[in-house]
Amino acid sequence: MIFETHAHYDDEQYNEDRENLLREIFSAGIDKIINVASTMESSRECIKLAEQYENIYAAVGVHPSEIDCIKGDTYEELRSMAAHRKVVAIGEIGLDYYWDKEKEVQERQKVEFIKQLDLARELDLPVIIHSRDAAADTMEILKNQPKRENPGIIHCYSYSVEMAREFIKMGWHIGVGGVVTFKNAKVLKEVVKEIPLERIVLETDCPYMAPEPHRGKRNSSIYIPHIVDKIAELKNVSGQEVEEVTYNNALRVYQMK
Ligand code: NI
Repeated sequence: MIFETHAHYDDEQYNEDRENLLREIFSAGIDKIINVASTMESSRECIKLAEQYENIYAAVGVHPSEIDCIKGDTYEELRSMAAHRKVVAIGEIGLDYYWDKEKEVQERQKVEFIKQLDLARELDLPVIIHSRDAAADTMEILKNQPKRENPGIIHCYSYSVEMAREFIKMGWHIGVGGVVTFKNAKVLKEVVKEIPLERIVLETDCPYMAPEPHRGKRNSSIYIPHIVDKIAELKNVSGQEVEEVTYNNALRVYQMK
């Protein structure tokens, strides 16, 4: 059984076939899905999806490249959405300096990132971190947070082995998706080899980041077995073991039974 820890099925790319696709996904051995928000609008959509499907759960929050959607009452609304029975995390939140190169915008990203981290800690919810081209600032902010036993997931991990070890020491889990199947993903493959399987969770980030041999196409959780196979090969264990261990890791991160 597979636990998909990061998907975006509210995306309009699924408008034509969402229901059929999800049925197909659940009958293909994907047992649980966390549908992750990026804006306030998608946070509401994530909750709707989670209400509709028993095995879909929601994360609510605002992505660093979407902070313009934050208004005066946003944190109040986030707080009330987070109380929903199917909301299991705050995310995805973080820093993205790849798209936003202006210092002023980056400073605003930091402010909203820290506010959402504080909210998650107050509500005792794990967070899903999006961090791109912002390794040092992400580490600094997370280090300055009060220590938590189970802070959450560094999603679509794209940094060094050393940094992965540091995050793991701080209690984080590492999200591994389609990129691990790409030929040029040398560093991520090294990360997967070096860190314990007990700290890896499976994710697609679909509709983006489809694994080989589907690279460039619309992604879905149906392709997770390609990610499982690659992790199994890198760690020299069976695919079954990768599925089982990462499934339990995800239950633990999201505090689910
Ligand atoms: Ni995502």
